[in-house]
Amino acid sequence: MAQHEWSKTSWQHFPALQQPRWPDQQEYAAAVATISQLPPLVFAGEIRDLKQKLAQVEVGKAFLLQGGDCAEDFTMCTAPAIRELLKVILQMAVIMSYAGGKPVVKLGRMAGQYAKPRSADTEMVNGVELPSYRGDMVNAIDPTPEARRPDPQRMVKGYFLACATMNILRAFTLGGYAALDRVHAWNNEFVKTSPQGQQYERLAAQIDQAINFMRTVGLDTDIPQLQQASFFTSHEALLLGYEQALTRQDSTTGDWYDCSAHMLWIGERTRQLEGAHVEFFRGVHNPLGVKIGPNHEIDNVKKLVQALNPANEPGRLTLITRFGARKIAENLPPLVRALKQEGFRVVWSCDPMHGNTYTAETGHKTRSFDDILQEIRTFFEIHWAEGTVPGGVHFEMTGENVTECTGGGRNIMAHHLAENYQTMCDPRLNAEQSLELAFQIAELLRER
Ligand code: PEP
Ligand code: CO
Repeated sequence: MAQHEWSKTSWQHFPALQQPRWPDQQEYAAAVATISQLPPLVFAGEIRDLKQKLAQVEVGKAFLLQGGDCAEDFTMCTAPAIRELLKVILQMAVIMSYAGGKPVVKLGRMAGQYAKPRSADTEMVNGVELPSYRGDMVNAIDPTPEARRPDPQRMVKGYFLACATMNILRAFTLGGYAALDRVHAWNNEFVKTSPQGQQYERLAAQIDQAINFMRTVGLDTDIPQLQQASFFTSHEALLLGYEQALTRQDSTTGDWYDCSAHMLWIGERTRQLEGAHVEFFRGVHNPLGVKIGPNHEIDNVKKLVQALNPANEPGRLTLITRFGARKIAENLPPLVRALKQEGFRVVWSCDPMHGNTYTAETGHKTRSFDDILQEIRTFFEIHWAEGTVPGGVHFEMTGENVTECTGGGRNIMAHHLAENYQTMCDPRLNAEQSLELAFQIAELLRER
C-alpha cells in the first residue's frame, strides 16, 4: 500500500466500507464541494500541539482522557449541553491530575462526532424494515423511510454545527470559564449532593487553598496554566468525502492536515489494511487513533501500525483497545508484547465501552459500570506487567443526568433505564458515573 503516491483523493481507488448510499450523486458532490470551500475547523499548529502532548502520554508523562457522546445529536448543539459535557470532562481531568498526579490531555468526542458505522444496512423498527440510522450527518433517527434517506445537505449542516460547537468550546476553555479557581462551579447541581459530588467538592477546596496560597506568597496566578484549559476535538473519521473536503495543506510545512478535528480515529469496522480509510489517513499528519477489538489479528495490527506510522513518530498513533472486561486478559497481553518487540511507539488507550455492550431485559442497549471499571483495571494491570504504559481512556459519556449505563454509586438497575434514556446510539456514562470512574483512575495513576 505504501508504494503508491498519496493524495487527498487517492482513497477513492480503494474500497470504502460504511459509506452511506447517497441517493443523488450530484447533490452529494455539490455538498462536498461546498464544504471544501469553507474555513478549516482547527489549525495545523493546534494539531501539532496535540501530537506533542500525546508523545508525552506515550512515555507516561501525561494521561489521555477522551470522551463524549457516542453520536452527537444536531438538536443538542446548545450552549448548556456543550457546557455540561465540558464541565464533566474538566472535572475528571482535575481529579486525575490532582489526585492522580499526572497532566491530563483532554480530548472531546465533540464538534463532529456525527457519523456512525452500523453492523447492518437496515434495521427493524416496530416490524418495519428501514435503512439504519447512520448519524445526524447522514440521516435522521425518526423511524420513517423519508427520515432515513441519506441527505448530503446534512454534511453541510454538520460542518456548521461542528463549527458552532468549536466556537463555544474555545470560548469556554480560553475565556475564563475553565480557570482553575472556578473548579467548584463545574460541579453539576444534580451531582453535588451525591458522594462523588461531595468527594469532588473536597478536592476542589484543596485546589482553592493551593491557589490562594500561591496568591498569598505573591505568585502570579494570572497565567494561562491556571486561567485556561487546553482542549482538543476528535471524532470517528467515517465519511471520507467530508474528511477530504476539510483536508488542507499547511502553508508553513507543506504537510496535509485533516482540519475537521485535531485527532481522528478509524473505527473497528473500517480499519482494513487495503481499505480507503487507512489509505486516506496515512497521508494526513494528524494524530490518529485506531480501534482494536477482540477479532483482530496481531500480524494485521502490526501492518496497520507500519502503514499509519512508518516513521514511528511519537504521538502519531493511539491504539484504542475495546475488548470487553471478559476478553481483555486474553487479548491485550499478546498484542502488547508483539508491538513492544517491534519497537513501535504507540499510545495505548482503553475504550471500556464498546466491548461491554449488552441488551438489558427491558430491551435497552446498556453497559454495566462494574464491567467498565473492571476492563480499565485489567488494562492498567496488564500494561504494568508488560512494562508498557497505560496511556489513556476513551469514554462514551454525557453531562446530562441520563440512565443509560447500569450500576455506579446510585446503582442504576435495568428497571431504571427507561427513566431517562436519551442516547442516539450507544449508552453513555452520566456525570456521576464519570466522576466515580475518574476517582478510581486517579488511584490507579497514583499506584505507579
Ligand atoms: C464508537 O466509538 O462509537 C464505535 C463505533 O466504536 P468501535 O469502532 O470501536 O466499534
Ligand atoms: Co459507540
